[in-house]
Amino acid sequence: MITYTDSVEKITFQMLQGFFEGWKKPCTPEEHLEILRNSNHIVLAIDSDQDKVVGFITALTDRMQSAFIPLLEVLPGYRRRGIGSTLVSRMLEKLKGIPAIDLTCDPVLQRFYSKFGMVPSVGMIIRDY
Ligand SMILES: CC(C)(COP(=O)(O)OP(=O)(O)OC[C@H]1O[C@@H](n2cnc3c(N)ncnc32)[C@H](O)[C@@H]1OP(=O)(O)O)[C@@H](O)C(=O)NCCC(=O)NCCS
Repeated sequence: MITYTDSVEKITFQMLQGFFEGWKKPCTPEEHLEILRNSNHIVLAIDSDQDKVVGFITALTDRMQSAFIPLLEVLPGYRRRGIGSTLVSRMLEKLKGIPAIDLTCDPVLQRFYSKFGMVPSVGMIIRDY
């Protein structure tokens, strides 16, 4: 069964295997746990039969004007069954009242995010891994 939590309290790095697929320099599970601890908001999808995290989303915010969603990922074996959509919906619920919510994504994912009322934008970034 897939359950959702917004708490990192009971999460160990052993539960965080297989993420950052395709990254040039993937975060280790220990670094991943630190990212979850340091984020303002998180939502995790957990396979409670396997006791492992199978999806996660993070947000950073000033709690007034702006929020940024840096990371969203669902493990390959768990995709296309609504987990990613649930993570985004739950995060947007947490960020309700904040007028500017940004994320960057590849063009193929614009249709996915548009389901949540998001619109395309142009941005500038640094990626210095
Ligand atoms: C994007 C992601 C989180 C979606 O998770 P998910 O649990 O599969 O999401 P859902 O089941 O709720 O929705 C799946 C939808 O995602 C979209 N999608 C996912 N990957 C896609 C891709 N490569 N190309 C086009 N659409 C894609 C489709 O619209 C799909 O809907 P469909 O199954 O009706 O075609 C997941 O594919 C993932 O982790 N990808 C790798 C990391 C990533 O790209 N994260 C986003 C960073 S901006």
